[in-house]
Amino acid sequence: LQKQGIKEIEKSDDLKQLNDIRVNLLGKKGPITEVLRGMRDLAKEERPAVGSFANKVRDALTESIETRKQALETAKIEHQLAQEKLDVTLPGTPVKQGTHHVIMQTVETLESVFLGMGFKVVLGYEVEEEKYNFEKLNMPKDHPARDMQDTFYINKDILMRTHMSPDEARTLEQHDFSTGPMKMIGPGRVYRRDTDDATHSHQFFQMEGQYIGEHVTMADLKGTLSFAIRQFFGAERKIRFRPSYFPFTEPSVEVDISCFKCNGVGCDVCKHSGWIEVLGAGMTHPNVLKAAGVDPVKYGGFAFGLGIDRFAMLKYGIDDIRQFYQNDIRFLSQFTEA
Ligand code: PHE
Repeated sequence: LQKQGIKEIEKSDDLKQLNDIRVNLLGKKGPITEVLRGMRDLAKEERPAVGSFANKVRDALTESIETRKQALETAKIEHQLAQEKLDVTLPGTPVKQGTHHVIMQTVETLESVFLGMGFKVVLGYEVEEEKYNFEKLNMPKDHPARDMQDTFYINKDILMRTHMSPDEARTLEQHDFSTGPMKMIGPGRVYRRDTDDATHSHQFFQMEGQYIGEHVTMADLKGTLSFAIRQFFGAERKIRFRPSYFPFTEPSVEVDISCFKCNGVGCDVCKHSGWIEVLGAGMTHPNVLKAAGVDPVKYGGFAFGLGIDRFAMLKYGIDDIRQFYQNDIRFLSQFTEA
């Protein structure tokens, strides 16, 4: 029994099997227990010999089980360690890196152009007060120019901003002119009640800019905007200033750039006239300065508003504004940052 048992024990190759063997050999129903239990039927003088023999067998089996158990446990740990070993020389799984949205890349490019000219970036509110969106920009209630921008109203005083000019009005109010002129740009999302199609969107991005100081002239407007446009679109771009109308500037201009070929489709959007409009601008209206508590005799300057979507469309040859907002990864992943 002992030999047979030990053989079985040594053959066992997992802990559960070993435990089954132990129960079979040494358990309540096992042969050893049976022998010991049968002792009471034996003659008195036989008992010590049988008893000590049975105990010896039991001890030998127990010892053998213990040894085997330790061996199996060690093997198990070693196996585990071997399996969990990290091969640091294996090549990794590449992590897909995202990029900033093409609109944000355009904002960043424009920001760096204007930061280089001493403008600072301000951030306003998408949900804006009616008085900053219209009133303080020389558009009193019932002013016909309000119709130029079809508006989403939240209530009669609060609306979704229709342009970035409210940032101008707010910054003008806060600026301390004893510290020097005010030069700000304000990029952000604007909203208009429009039916979405290839060239219209009910929400898009604009960047406002304003430079107000003691001796800021129309020449500064032209120089600043020409420089910024050429930085963005390329030095060979021709620029044209056309008279226009905005309630918050007088005189007002619209700025066109000459058409150009680029590497994409849809670049040649203006092949008929040779020009395409890229922004509105003008000399800040005295009423806007007054509404902000700034002396229009002492201070003056210019403001502009440009469409960021349009800048990106022209630069990259995108012919449908909706592509910016559909978040199709195949579209977006084309615009990786340098
Ligand atoms: N706010 C004007 C618009 O959205 C753009 C503009 C800004 C024009 C500043 C002139 C000066 O159409």
